[in-house]
Amino acid sequence: MFDALKPQITTLLNNTTQTAEQRMQAICELLKANIPHYDWVGFYFKNGDKRELKLGSYAGAPTDHTIIPFGKGICGQVAESNQNFVVPDVQAQDNYIACSITVKSEIVIPLFKNGENIGQIDIDSNTPDPFTAEDERFLEWVNEGVSQIL
Ligand code: SME
Repeated sequence: MFDALKPQITTLLNNTTQTAEQRMQAICELLKANIPHYDWVGFYFKNGDKRELKLGSYAGAPTDHTIIPFGKGICGQVAESNQNFVVPDVQAQDNYIACSITVKSEIVIPLFKNGENIGQIDIDSNTPDPFTAEDERFLEWVNEGVSQIL
């Protein structure tokens, strides 16, 4: 599944007729439409010099959480840890920001540009415990590609 999507993602990334934002939007939509356990897909980026994340492109239900302070929720923790964060059961997390009651699990993978953690891809799933190391490797690959158009 993941390997079959890679050529399409590469094509989207290389579409220089679109802005980086449009290309990230297209990637969010592709991932959400093609990976059954991806129910919300979005990118958050560091908001200027502030210690907070700002929502960028996303596919799925609109969220109230367009700004997330560093340290808050899964996303805010990844902004500080620089590590992948896989959450099999969101209800088991103390430091979690709920976006929708249907969400059961989440994965957040940091996005590095020149070695600096500048943002992340965030996936919410309505399926319990769906994420494996394959999701991590795939999303690291996606972020690597996105970093090259930023
Ligand atoms: N659940 C995230 C907040 C962002 S929403 O999933 C879109 C968190 O705890 O950081």
